[in-house]
Amino acid sequence: MLYIGVDLGTSAVKLLVMDETGDIKKIVSKEYPLFFPHPGWSEQKPEDWFEKSMEGIKELTAECDKSQVAGISFGGQMHGLVALDKDDNVIRPAILWNDGRTGEETEYLNEVIGKDKLSEYTANIAFAGFTAPKILWMKKHEPENFEKIAKIMLPKDYLAYKLSGSFCTDVSDASGMLLMDVKNRSWSKEMMDICGITEDKLPKLYESYEVVGTLKKEIADELGFAENVKVIAGAGDNAAAAVGTGTVGDGMCNISLGTSGTIFISSNKFGVDENNALHSFAHADGHYHLMGCMLSAASCNKWWNEEILKTKDFAAEQAGITKLGENRVFYLPYLMGERSPHNNPDARAMFIGMSMDTTREDMTQAVLEGVAFGLRDSLEVARSLGIKIERTKICGGGAKSPLWKKMIANIMNLKVDVVENEEGPALGGAMLAAVGCGEYPDVEAAAAKIVKVVDTVGPDEELTAKYEERYQQFRKLYPTVKCLYEKG
Ligand code: XUL
Repeated sequence: MLYIGVDLGTSAVKLLVMDETGDIKKIVSKEYPLFFPHPGWSEQKPEDWFEKSMEGIKELTAECDKSQVAGISFGGQMHGLVALDKDDNVIRPAILWNDGRTGEETEYLNEVIGKDKLSEYTANIAFAGFTAPKILWMKKHEPENFEKIAKIMLPKDYLAYKLSGSFCTDVSDASGMLLMDVKNRSWSKEMMDICGITEDKLPKLYESYEVVGTLKKEIADELGFAENVKVIAGAGDNAAAAVGTGTVGDGMCNISLGTSGTIFISSNKFGVDENNALHSFAHADGHYHLMGCMLSAASCNKWWNEEILKTKDFAAEQAGITKLGENRVFYLPYLMGERSPHNNPDARAMFIGMSMDTTREDMTQAVLEGVAFGLRDSLEVARSLGIKIERTKICGGGAKSPLWKKMIANIMNLKVDVVENEEGPALGGAMLAAVGCGEYPDVEAAAAKIVKVVDTVGPDEELTAKYEERYQQFRKLYPTVKCLYEKG
């Protein structure tokens, strides 16, 4: 049988079709626009997601025996607010995970409602990108739109709704709304009251591998599929990526170098860090995870190469970098503000430490290192909780760079296990579909069969020591320059 995984990303939707053994038959990617209507705001049109996903599915399965397609599932960009009216029209463009407009609402939630209460209700505190502060923003700034809301959903849930008619979400993605009681995997009555919404406006909660319905007849006809093709809930893109890299069960780690950068630690037990610096979310394997998320990771490298250096040849820019651990230039990767661990939507990126002999290569190197240092900030929080992590998987566009993987290994002092398919969320989505269709008894069994480690990039003692010194300098920078970031 064939299983389709849809990774609804920020720059593009990536789609993959595999058979039950995990053999990938084809991968397709379709881009759509991202809008920044004000500095620090970030929006997309849900209609674009659906149009491009449908185009993608058609292209993906053009040469397949379509009668073999059994299930479809998703990994989706998290936290985005998609609001539909009573006639299922999209009320306004979706407000995305990296949108920083909700500074005031986030402060209200954390300071007036209080972090303790939020943590008690949801296991998390408010961050500007989370969904609940966006609902409050809409209520205050667009009351006419807020009044129209009949359904609130996350980005990938819009696809599931359009494909199957099922108003659903999954527990991993819903964890990032700040509306879910993560420990008990149910909506929080207290949070709904705080946001002024009722449960009928929220989707039904499923585990990520559960079937939510089948394709609508008109969709099945358009795609040339059977009507009994199952739609499986899917997961937030980080949980889906974790499934796709085999980061399931207890104490495993995955780093994703996509538009965002995340460090994801799976756990069989529910846990919350004392300061809520890491997110405490449900995992797609039925358990839990901790996660640190930086808002700009591979996007820093893309911005630096494409917007500043005016090149698309990222590999050529990296080819001249030889002085690892010796760069005097630092880069703070806060192009869209920062989530973990600083929680400051007003932070901005900076280069520091240039001299007359600084080269283009030094600056490129600083960008790559700055992202790795930022990820280490979150790893340090996990280490401070006594969590021992010695190795990690890696995925996302940035993971294609051997140099960046080497930096990650040495800056974070981790063995980096490279998996055969770095497709992360799309593969994870397809695996969830296979589990939902009964091909595997559970997500861990699917990962054990499908995910293969093909290489390990180890830290080198000498280089790790050099980077340790650099990191100790890096971590002093944010507290020093913080006073320069104005409230947006
Ligand atoms: C995670 C987060 C990002 C997005 C990217 O909390 O906000 O990783 O999911 O798509």
